[in-house]
Amino acid sequence: MKRVITYGTYDLLHHGHINLLRRAKELGDYLIVGVTSDSYDRERGKLNVRNNVLERVEAVKATGFADEVIIEDYIGQKIDDIQKYNIDIFAIGSDWEGKFDYLNEYCQVLYLPRTEGISSTQLRAESMSATTIGIIGCGRVTSRFPSEAAIVGEVTISGCFDINIDKALRFASDSGVKAFDNLESLIDSSDAIYIATPHLAHYPLIKQCVAARKHVLCETPMVLKKEQAEELFALAEENGVVLMEANKTAHCPAFNHLMVMIKSGMIGQVVDVEASLSKLWDDELGSYPLLPIVKLMGLRYENLNLYSRITNGVDMYTKGVFHYPYATCSFKVGLGVKTEGNLVISGTKGYAYVPAPWWKTDYFEFRYEDQNQNKKFFYKWDGSGLRYEIQEFVSCIINKRFATTRLSRRESIFMAEIMERFAERKNFITL
Ligand code: CTP
Repeated sequence: MKRVITYGTYDLLHHGHINLLRRAKELGDYLIVGVTSDSYDRERGKLNVRNNVLERVEAVKATGFADEVIIEDYIGQKIDDIQKYNIDIFAIGSDWEGKFDYLNEYCQVLYLPRTEGISSTQLRAESMSATTIGIIGCGRVTSRFPSEAAIVGEVTISGCFDINIDKALRFASDSGVKAFDNLESLIDSSDAIYIATPHLAHYPLIKQCVAARKHVLCETPMVLKKEQAEELFALAEENGVVLMEANKTAHCPAFNHLMVMIKSGMIGQVVDVEASLSKLWDDELGSYPLLPIVKLMGLRYENLNLYSRITNGVDMYTKGVFHYPYATCSFKVGLGVKTEGNLVISGTKGYAYVPAPWWKTDYFEFRYEDQNQNKKFFYKWDGSGLRYEIQEFVSCIINKRFATTRLSRRESIFMAEIMERFAERKNFITL
């Protein structure tokens, strides 16, 4: 029996895919089709795949050509699969000509003619015009936005605005986007707005953009009051637009894997989360270390104490200690303090260790009493992470999803609530 294998993403399955699968099946008696996992696609830079892996597997099965469908999840898997499944022929479209010659060592490699004039990329582009995003606030945080948006694709930048016109002009000349001297015109010319101003301006700006029925991606911390966060999310829903807090860690592949692995019981029950950050600029204070805490322990803490050292009106160091029904959690942030900046999550069976900078990590470890059981995990993380959040934002817009699981509305509201407690000095001890 001749066994054939082929691989692909098979997004928005089209007749090019069907032709390829038919040809591959005709080469032998048994066809295995490897469909890429969502995380593997993200890892290799395919950020805008529309169908999730289950939908893509179903679409391949529905063609009737595959005798077996497997998931492709890592680089090098093709060699493993060819040996494991005893493959005679590896077949792939001619757009990959020469790229898989190294597999000749294991089986016959055939490049099959590609169907001209069709691709998933083309279908994605035709199905929806690009989302135009306007940028408000042209500071340091924004500098990578245009180049990262270009990587995501299906996005065009309508222009930028800054209350300081010189900043907007400088940003415009550096990044090649148009500078607007009028905020309303920028909002009018955009489907969506990215807000990266100092945080006190976030609330009125989000309100204005959402009222104008524009989707909004706003830098973290989105707002500093629980009520404001609730009001803005309700307003966004009323106006049928996406409102998302831009928190890079929430979109970090390794961080997300860590969260789901812990939730699946890899370290038993979580009894303690310790998150530290020492290198911080103050407008991000707090929201990053709160993320693992709220993701793992939820919204219902029993108590929170804040300890702060303030010098000349600046918070040099703050430690927060949460009491949850069955756990404690603490975070440590500070401009004027040097610390290890790691994340340690302790459980009843073992603990997770994420070295600094854990908030943009590509690596973590699970450690156990029996060291032979220790495990290390790596996940690719490209650029500054901005591309993953832009991609999720655009995907929410295209698919009309008003919330993302990577940072839910309730989690954003929780963060605003903690910021508010800090501002109002609730259970606050000055050191
Ligand atoms: N394929 C083909 N003819 C096309 C498109 C794809 O023969 N017009 C083949 C590819 O060569 C590959 C398989 O179908 O062997 C799966 O390809 P995939 O990358 O999923 O499809 P594309 O449409 O090329 O996707 P994209 O535009 O996202 O790269």
